[in-house]
Amino acid sequence: MSVNVLQAQRNLYTKGFLDLPVPEKHQLVSEIERLKKDRNAVIMAHYYQAPEIQDIADFLGDSLYLARAAENISADMIVFAGVHFMAETAKIINPSKKVVLPDLHAGCSLADSCPPDQFRAFKEKYPGAVVVSYINCSAEIKTMSDVVCTSTNAVKVIESIPDDKQIIFAPDKNLGKYLIKKTNRPMILWEGSCIVHEAFSFEKILELTKQHPNAKFIAHPESESQILDFAHFIGSTSALLRFAQEDDSDSYIVATEAGILHEMQKKSPHKTFIPAPVDDDTCACSECAFMKLNNLEKLYLCMEHQSPEIVLKQEVIESAMLPIQRMLRLG
Ligand code: 13P
Ligand code: SF4
Repeated sequence: MSVNVLQAQRNLYTKGFLDLPVPEKHQLVSEIERLKKDRNAVIMAHYYQAPEIQDIADFLGDSLYLARAAENISADMIVFAGVHFMAETAKIINPSKKVVLPDLHAGCSLADSCPPDQFRAFKEKYPGAVVVSYINCSAEIKTMSDVVCTSTNAVKVIESIPDDKQIIFAPDKNLGKYLIKKTNRPMILWEGSCIVHEAFSFEKILELTKQHPNAKFIAHPESESQILDFAHFIGSTSALLRFAQEDDSDSYIVATEAGILHEMQKKSPHKTFIPAPVDDDTCACSECAFMKLNNLEKLYLCMEHQSPEIVLKQEVIESAMLPIQRMLRLG
């Protein structure tokens, strides 16, 4: 969807939609469950959603899990409790379904840091290069990509590209730098980043590890190099979750969006999870303001009114689908 079309949709959405009536707080969960049946809908949620949304989801996971699951959904409507690029990806993979996003303003700083026009000009400077795009980008960037990856399978995707090929990696420079080290493969990086993973304070993390000498420090690869070099373990949200479950320590300092702590605590109730501190004095941990725009009221409204819907041009769906399918076929 072009930036202007999305903005026009957002303006329409803001005008009055959120003022429509919603049930009392204590009835919201049962009303959402009712709407799932009435509308033949499923709720997909990323680990960065608020706990009450994670608990009501039919599919809960990281970006790769959600993309894979979306491909096989047979329900009529996919309610995507995540951000815009994730809902767009679900629509691209399973275009016959109605895909709705509870808050159309739920964007992503990383996706926004890669405007399609600028990326097209950048790509033209390297004819013949293979474009690997991190799934955290707009549908238009996907149409310009050869293969998509997520933080779970990025190493595998890079290693699948023949050695004699130049690679452009976009849009996350931090993940890109990490992958260059990990795969020993030079890549041309787009200079985008995630505001949430760039907010961690190395000094405060150092201080915290002194206060908790037995805690392991684990981090998402969207974080900056200095943070990653200090980590005991680096991985996608699902990899961090699995590590915390299988590892024998009893406490962890976690450098990714704090929403993941809900599932970590559920999977390992006897362990302690501490969110890594950020450089900002206004909040203690790192939360994605875009992810947290979704709430139960908006979830109810978008299911009741089957709106706001993700609408993409057929040609965008067709060409963005190819690099996503290439990724999914890699297993
Ligand atoms: P994963 O879901 O691949 O861990 O990525 C995290 C993220 O930033 C989603 O916005
Ligand atoms: Fe985007 Fe970062 Fe939020 Fe993920 S956590 S949606 S990458 S801004």
